[in-house]
Amino acid sequence: MKNAYRIAAIPGDGIGVEVVEAGLEVLEALSGHLGSFALEVERFDWGSERYRREGRFMPEDGADRLRAFDAILFGAVGAPDVPDHLSLWGLRLAICQPLDQFANVRPTRILPGITSPLRGVGPEDLDWVIVRENSEGEYSGQGGRSHRGLPHEVATELSVFTRGGVERIMRFAFELARSRQRRQLTVVTKSNAQRYGMVLWDEIAAEVGQDFPDVKWDKMLVDAMTVRMTLDPASLDTIVASNLHADILSDLAAALSGSIGVAPTANLNPARSTPSMFEPIHGSAFDITGKGVANPIATFWTASMMLEHLGETEAAARLMAAIETVTADAACHTPDLGGRATTRDVTQAVIAAL
Ligand code: IPM
Ligand code: MG
Repeated sequence: MKNAYRIAAIPGDGIGVEVVEAGLEVLEALSGHLGSFALEVERFDWGSERYRREGRFMPEDGADRLRAFDAILFGAVGAPDVPDHLSLWGLRLAICQPLDQFANVRPTRILPGITSPLRGVGPEDLDWVIVRENSEGEYSGQGGRSHRGLPHEVATELSVFTRGGVERIMRFAFELARSRQRRQLTVVTKSNAQRYGMVLWDEIAAEVGQDFPDVKWDKMLVDAMTVRMTLDPASLDTIVASNLHADILSDLAAALSGSIGVAPTANLNPARSTPSMFEPIHGSAFDITGKGVANPIATFWTASMMLEHLGETEAAARLMAAIETVTADAACHTPDLGGRATTRDVTQAVIAAL
């Protein structure tokens, strides 16, 4: 019997369109090979073009329409002529928040054939998963502006940390750490300077940690964490951080693993009461849009995470193995990895490896 899944595809802007098409092609090929699952894909034309046309990135009930799907495959949002805060809040966060995808998971590894910019650091030295709190913190959306244009114009940007919000992400992170071989978690904080939200964050980490005596955990200030990631990557395994801290650290992680062109993300609702959303980290990249050279590996890895989440473990592992076969071959590297391969070349190579 075949498992069938309904997938909402939102290619969005820029290279998002190119990599999502490549991702769907690879998923189709995998489904054909294995015969164990089928995907019914519906594409949504949400993004900046729609915003220019209609003043909205997606319909008003957009997030609700997605509830009927088993998972969402997202490309990127953002265009040079649209302010970034409008596109982000108009589409990506407008999906993540109402669907309560509170755990953003960002695995980082140095894939075969890819070189880290860190001297002497290989795949065995860098194998992390960053867990990003994805529903509140510095991205709570609270704040405001007043006295516009006056010398005393004021803007506030409120960070919100709730007991419920912090506890659920800590529990998720400890559980994930427990499922990995090293059973080790680093809690990123800034409680020396931010004495309310981050102190609550630390306290709840310690409370939740008591339920996980088999997980070794430690605490790092976010600034010192950048040093540890760079100088002692092998000392880290699972990492949990607030929305903004993890945003910054995950870009550093992607760069240290070789290229942001391979980095995947899952926006999970672990309770599964709504669909989770899977996307490459890289964004719309208008400088290379339409040139056919976007690296589709991040989307393929993302697609593998989606299959894993859907319970198609075998398919997820097959796809990951094909990805690693292809990255091992320098002839299949796109320009972000210093090569000359095109999106098409890499896609065909992954399908052949499958
Ligand atoms: C990310 C991105 C976004 C974020 C941007 C596009 C606003 O950098 O997913 O990490 O900051 O969340
Ligand atoms: Mg980011």
